[in-house]
Amino acid sequence: MRTVVISGGGTGIGLATAERFAADGDRVVLIGRRRQVLDAAVARLGELASAVVADLAEPVDVERVAAEIGSVDVLVNAAGGNALLDAPDDGPDGVAGVAWHWLANFRANTLTTALLTEAMRDRIADGGRVLLISSIAAYRGSGSGSYGASKAALHPYASDLAAALGPRGITVNVIAPGYIEDTEFFRGKLSAEREQTLIAQSHTGRAGVPADVAETAHWLASPAAAHVTAQIIQVNGGAERGR
Ligand SMILES: NC(=O)c1ccc[n+]([C@@H]2O[C@H](COP(=O)([O-])OP(=O)(O)OC[C@H]3O[C@@H](n4cnc5c(N)ncnc54)[C@H](OP(=O)(O)O)[C@@H]3O)[C@@H](O)[C@H]2O)c1
Repeated sequence: MRTVVISGGGTGIGLATAERFAADGDRVVLIGRRRQVLDAAVARLGELASAVVADLAEPVDVERVAAEIGSVDVLVNAAGGNALLDAPDDGPDGVAGVAWHWLANFRANTLTTALLTEAMRDRIADGGRVLLISSIAAYRGSGSGSYGASKAALHPYASDLAAALGPRGITVNVIAPGYIEDTEFFRGKLSAEREQTLIAQSHTGRAGVPADVAETAHWLASPAAAHVTAQIIQVNGGAERGR
């Protein structure tokens, strides 16, 4: 039985990924900041699931989590999101506001992934898998610059990590989804018009679903993908090519 650690595993893409691995009999460990959300996810997943509460942008939390979890076979870094969607109404504006959202997105996406991965690095089993979740925004932006940039930073990190861990048979890959429905990502703020625009950008004419990403993660973690490493797999129905 493999141990699969999934940051952001309480909701959306992370939860779908946990469901996919648990369906195969893997042990899944979910990480997130909200205890209630994680408890509900564990109840849904059954006895193969457990959860640890942590803010993965905080080094102290990450060190505690790594010690608590111990070893891992598959590490899926799904925690993240566009911090601008959580910006307080009375937050700073002007250049101070720019500093706020660039730093907030760096913490939410780049730091959560780098800190957890580095903390677990020596605890990943030989032949293991590391997956990083980027975004189509790393290629074509999403309006603010800072969210896409915080995801794009993961791409060279994956290359370096793949080179370092390759001799141990560990692969490191990035999945860059396009618009995925049924997640908490948009905080309920996605207008119907914007959603139609995102769907229209795809060649498949539909929104992505969390299972699209979960199945890709599951394949990348399988023996069939043992020679696939340092790659960025785009799961967006062709939307990155633009329309
Ligand atoms: N949905 C899309 O259209 C889309 C497209 C491209 C890429 N993505 C990426 O896919 C990943 C999964 O997002 P999602 O779409 O499934 O949205 P989601 O439902 O909002 O999931 C994000 C998860 O990350 C956790 N999280 C966020 N910050 C964290 C932190 N500092 N420490 C620990 N956990 C943290 C959240 O839980 P807590 O709030 O409880 O911590 C939540 O469970 C994200 O990296 C997102 O950027 C999403």
